[in-house]
Amino acid sequence: MNRSRRILASLVATTCLVAGVGSAAAEVDPSPGSPGAGDRYFPDYGNGGYDVIHYDVHDRVGFNRGRLSGRTELRATATQSLSRFNLDMMLKVTAVKVNGQVAEFRKTNRHELQVTPASPIAEGTDFRVQVKYAGVPKRLRWNGERPWLGNRREIVAMGEPQMAAWWFAANDHPSDKATFDISIKVPKHKKVVANGELEKITKGKSRNTWHWRAAEPMAAYLAFFGAGNFALERGRTPSGLPYVYAVSRQLNQRQREQSFNLLRTTPKVLTFLEKWLGDYPFSSTGGLVTGLEVNFALENQTRPTYPYSGGKQSSWLVAHELTHQWFGDKVAVRNWRDIWLNEGFATFFEMLWADNYGSATPQKWLLREWGYYPQSFWQLKIGEPGAARLFDYPVYQRGGMAVQALRHRIGDADFKALLRAWLADRENGSIEDFIALAEETSGEELDGFFRAWLFSSKRPARTVANGLA
Ligand code: TRP
Ligand code: ZN
Repeated sequence: MNRSRRILASLVATTCLVAGVGSAAAEVDPSPGSPGAGDRYFPDYGNGGYDVIHYDVHDRVGFNRGRLSGRTELRATATQSLSRFNLDMMLKVTAVKVNGQVAEFRKTNRHELQVTPASPIAEGTDFRVQVKYAGVPKRLRWNGERPWLGNRREIVAMGEPQMAAWWFAANDHPSDKATFDISIKVPKHKKVVANGELEKITKGKSRNTWHWRAAEPMAAYLAFFGAGNFALERGRTPSGLPYVYAVSRQLNQRQREQSFNLLRTTPKVLTFLEKWLGDYPFSSTGGLVTGLEVNFALENQTRPTYPYSGGKQSSWLVAHELTHQWFGDKVAVRNWRDIWLNEGFATFFEMLWADNYGSATPQKWLLREWGYYPQSFWQLKIGEPGAARLFDYPVYQRGGMAVQALRHRIGDADFKALLRAWLADRENGSIEDFIALAEETSGEELDGFFRAWLFSSKRPARTVANGLA
């Protein structure tokens, strides 16, 4: 028993009014896993009591009625003795097995699948779960959002902070990473792209199954697939990294060529980012330009999705999504309130990449931006933006400015050392973790700096301490 459990047990023993629950019993009695991962912004995202090791997703998608059916098989380790546990799953569930045995299940609400195995699962043991489901994901709404993207010709299952539960049974919180096999069955004339590497295409009479494997741990929201009429380009970058570029055939010939040209900037952008961030963290790369009308790109691990950008060679967006491969994917947020760690750094390196081909210095950019925005821009505390404002403009822009200000404050050498140390050996991180590491790396006291940039409703004063002079 560790220290905190011992304290908890003695608290239970001295204050518990329920007969029979004492410290000795609390140690061995199986109890329900929590229905959430403890994220203040999204209490129902993720679950407690276990850690997923691997997902094996088998889905079949239809294009006419938008129906999706399938099964998720996952392997997990119990982090407590479990009488039951939850998974996040929006679709209708038809069967559940745990370790090969039929398990009881019920939906406590549309989002939460509660599973009661035939026998409890001991703390520290691995167990297998199989969930079968079916439904029409585009109809399903949760937390005021209907994140499914698709029409009769193309589907892109991607979203942030939520989408996983619309197509697989998940522990949908970035704090629980796992490896993935993603198998999607589609009509013969369609193609499927997903994360990682294409393992195999299994041909059927009228349908083919595309099996992709993501062998590096990944947060559930970064798992994705696109299914549609795609043109594919596969190869290896000059440094030997396998890539897959996919472009929707919903775009015309000229638009497709522009889109491939955008995707082809990937190796150059990666080389640029590697100078700052160290080796690219994954074993493949690429991207998908969708023909769907989407306003955002998303940093799906190894393979971002981009909207068609209207012919502008907007490789700044490529720099943004590829920065996320380090800030967001390799090191994921601990909780969603840590979003600055994703969007601030992605905006900063997007700016740095663009400046590479421009004239102004990053510090001039910072001072110009600092002088430019009205008071209302500075109101949002980007270190605590709230669930509703997670992706508001200041999270990106003030966020990117904060990174340049930090760089100016501690100097390039310490800044680079900080980036390398942050990215070296960590699956998740919080803003507090980052501040502690920044202070350790620079040997400076940075509380005031981070308060001004992340936790204040005012424009940071133009001082040396704030990296502005
Ligand atoms: N993280 C994305 C980016 O900055 C933006 C984003 C937020 C998004 N929510 C989304 C993209 C939902 C697609 C769907 O690049
Ligand atoms: Zn981003």
